[in-house]
Amino acid sequence: MHEELDIHPIDELAVSGIAALDEKISGTYSPEVWEQRVMYYIRRDPEGSFVAESAGEVVGFIFGEVRSGEFGLEQPTGWVEVVAVDPDCQGQAIGRRLAEAMLGRFRELGVARVNTLVSEQREGLTQFFTSLGFENSDLRSLTLDLSPGQSR
Ligand SMILES: CC(C)(COP(=O)(O)OP(=O)(O)OC[C@H]1O[C@@H](n2cnc3c(N)ncnc32)[C@H](O)[C@@H]1OP(=O)(O)O)[C@@H](O)C(=O)NCCC(=O)NCCS
Repeated sequence: MHEELDIHPIDELAVSGIAALDEKISGTYSPEVWEQRVMYYIRRDPEGSFVAESAGEVVGFIFGEVRSGEFGLEQPTGWVEVVAVDPDCQGQAIGRRLAEAMLGRFRELGVARVNTLVSEQREGLTQFFTSLGFENSDLRSLTLDLSPGQSR
């Protein structure tokens, strides 16, 4: 990347760039969904989720929050919930820098443990978190299918 990277807390101005980047990755353009998500995370902590911009373009983002008393975890726990980097800019430490910004915020807030959930199909994402120091945890993810014909 030749342009300087600007990493800063998310704001409403970033919504269109975030939706465009998600469309590039997922193939679906959902600006209303991303506006709601951005507003949710700003309400949770205006300094807690981050966007990376280069030459005025959004090239990555990371959303997360701190929760206490949920999942039987009494201590404040950081959760990394969404991370994405522009496919044209991957492998340039943008994801790492976004994560470091979020982990720095978690430390400021007294968080001692950070969790995330990764699909077993997303080996690259698992390796990304592993390279940041994440390890297998003793939390087990469980799921229940409520779609018609599946519920008990
Ligand atoms: C996973 C992702 C965030 C990584 O971002 P990135 O900027 O390319 O990652 P970085 O360059 O900061 O890499 C940091 C480390 O993770 C490793 N890593 C990143 N992606 C990897 C992959 N796909 N496979 C293996 N290792 C990977 C790098 O090798 C690097 O390790 P090192 O520092 O020990 O050498 C990015 O590839 C991505 O956005 N993937 C799509 C995720 C997605 O679909 N998100 C939407 C729903 S949440």
